Amino acid sequence: MSTAVMTNRLELNSLAETTLKAATRFWFLVVLIGQSVFAFSVASFYGLPALRGDFHGWSKHITHGHIPGDTMGNFAVGMHLFSAVVIILAGVLQLVPQIRNRFPVFHRWNGRLYVVTAFTISIAGLYMMWIRGSVGDLSQNLGTSLMAVLIMLCAGMVLRYAMARDFRTHRRWALRLYLVVSASLFIRAGLFLSFILNHGPFGFDPATFRGPFLTFISFAQYLVPLAVLELYFRTQERAGAVGRLAMAASLFMLTIALGAGIFAVTMAIWVPQVKAAYDPRTSVAETLSATIVSRGIDQAAKQYYELKAAVPATYNFDEDELNSLGYQLIGAKKFKEAIRILELNAEAYPRSGNVYDSLAEAYMDDGNKPQAIANYQKSLELNPKNAGAVQMLRKLNAP
Ligand code: HEM
Repeated sequence: MSTAVMTNRLELNSLAETTLKAATRFWFLVVLIGQSVFAFSVASFYGLPALRGDFHGWSKHITHGHIPGDTMGNFAVGMHLFSAVVIILAGVLQLVPQIRNRFPVFHRWNGRLYVVTAFTISIAGLYMMWIRGSVGDLSQNLGTSLMAVLIMLCAGMVLRYAMARDFRTHRRWALRLYLVVSASLFIRAGLFLSFILNHGPFGFDPATFRGPFLTFISFAQYLVPLAVLELYFRTQERAGAVGRLAMAASLFMLTIALGAGIFAVTMAIWVPQVKAAYDPRTSVAETLSATIVSRGIDQAAKQYYELKAAVPATYNFDEDELNSLGYQLIGAKKFKEAIRILELNAEAYPRSGNVYDSLAEAYMDDGNKPQAIANYQKSLELNPKNAGAVQMLRKLNAP
């Protein structure tokens, strides 16, 4: 082989190596930013109000968020959310090489915390899903449950190989664990990326949150990243310059897609959540919830009108306040109270299809079929795209 050919080959190898390193760093940076925003929004939106003793906001984004009296279920949700913040932050600290190399004792303790949290988040998630009930159908629940099993399996392997001082295998399992844990970020980004590409929901019914795309993404959220990681390991071990360049290009494109999804979910969900968390207004739902418990629903309804007339700017009267309180009451099987609260919301927001949909659900759970039908019809009139209402009307044998 001539010297010129050898030099060219060496240059190509070095270019491939540098490009792959750059693509990996770019991927890690995007995930790091996404994880940080995600953790900040979870800590702000769920954590801050909880510290003040205000739990009703949990029901705004979680099917069975906080149900008064259900100590075990509420503990599971609290543990899941707390573990979410801890595991995201611990993961970031665990993988930054500068921290890992300079502070080995911290790395060990943070690693232990990560492994323990992998179990707490998974067990709490499984409890929320199978005991309390959650959004989605059986196939989605199976997908997410397999994720919980994989998280615990990977955590066990990470620990096992660290204790055996086989750091090469330990590192591989640590990366797998990090990816399966990060699936919670990937699924949110993937879902919102599909909204951008399709200009709306794709492959599922937004009213019931069921459909083939959601089944697919419930498994793909961790299987695709794990497959890419195995490919990456093989590339590092065996591939030549061309293989490395191909891997770098694929990683780069995947990162761009991930970044777009993270940006979309940040703007649609996390920025509004953070804004709500730092909203200086008092939650009217929380105030009324306390009154319902201490003095009953009639006094709560009276208080609602009084506050609205006297101090409208001090309290938060947004649509989702009474809507989430209504769902909280439905969750606690206090259907009469839920109907009353949701009627107040319909009075305040008479043009909202969502408000009538919630009211219809409360009537249905209370066994009042004619009112359930009337309110689903009203909801459909205001929002003809409400596929959930169409489905419910069919179920109720309504015209
Ligand atoms: C490991 C990473 C995970 C993180 C960071 C995470 C984070 C979260 C967050 C923040 C929520 C609240 C909803 C939201 O604001 O988006 C949530 C809900 C939930 N999570 Fe997880 N989660 C993880 C893993 C799991 C696993 C493994 C399961 C297993 C079954 C699970 C089950 C659930 C359930 C059932 C809900 C409630 C969904 C509903 O509204 O019905 N999560 N999770």
